[in-house]
Amino acid sequence: MPPQSFKEALSKKLTKNQLALVPRAFDVVGTIAIFSHLPDELKKKETIIAKTLLEVHSHIKTVTKKVSDHQGTFRTKKVRVLAGQRTKTTTHTESGARIMLNIETCYFSPRLSQERMRIAKQVKDGERVLVLFSGVSVYPLVIAKNSKPLSITAVELNPDAHKFALENIKKNKFEEIITAIKADVQNVKLKGKFDRIIMPLPKGAKDYLDVALKYSKKGTIIHLYVFTDKTIFPDGIIDLVKDKLKNIKILDTVQCGTASPSKIRVCVDIRVKKS
Ligand SMILES: C[S@@+](CC[C@H](N)C(=O)[O-])C[C@H]1O[C@@H](n2cnc3c(N)ncnc32)[C@H](O)[C@@H]1O
Repeated sequence: MPPQSFKEALSKKLTKNQLALVPRAFDVVGTIAIFSHLPDELKKKETIIAKTLLEVHSHIKTVTKKVSDHQGTFRTKKVRVLAGQRTKTTTHTESGARIMLNIETCYFSPRLSQERMRIAKQVKDGERVLVLFSGVSVYPLVIAKNSKPLSITAVELNPDAHKFALENIKKNKFEEIITAIKADVQNVKLKGKFDRIIMPLPKGAKDYLDVALKYSKKGTIIHLYVFTDKTIFPDGIIDLVKDKLKNIKILDTVQCGTASPSKIRVCVDIRVKKS
């Protein structure tokens, strides 16, 4: 018998109306599935839905549901385990890098993998790269795995994300390339200037451009992430960056996700013309 799809398997356990409410998509981080939203009408069926997902997808060992938005300085979300192994820690593979994390105490989105590769492909041999707001070090790991930088410095404030970053750097054998620092980006003290600076904190990175400029020289590329209203993309975001920064050239504006029906995640690629 051919393997059943999730919805096929559920069709024997739910009414037609209930089935129509089950979300088609869910994130998978390592062995953990995460439903972003399960409608209230399915409350009594959550365990059946989660157990069915475990039966159909053998690589999924835990099924969870997101119960809060990303919040606070660390941009973390609350999740509830619905079925399977009662753990929130897992190891995810992205673009050849193995990334261990706790999905509740650390920020991580598997949806940004293409965007991370877009950046990794731009890194030239021998570059000094700085990743601000580096989380569990996913940008540094994907860059180290897929390009040949001289060094990557990663700065992250969340102690748990920093702990996983150190472990991930060791497990992927990049101790000679990646240095993870637990610090507030605003106060961090670094040596020298960087060829490329990545700022993946869409909610607020633009307020730390002074730090990026401090570590920039002529030719430094800054990848600045921002949330913006769909209707003002790209002109509104270009104006905002030009208002904040002088002596720069905007190389590209790339939409790399959605935050809500009206809000999008954008990366602005910027070249510094003068230090
Ligand atoms: C949106 S997450 C991105 C994490 C990671 N770069 C990724 O792509 O998965 C932003 C990260 O910035 C960290 N952060 C927020 N404010 C910070 C600050 N002032 N200094 C250092 N890290 C900060 C948060 O803890 C969080 O891990």
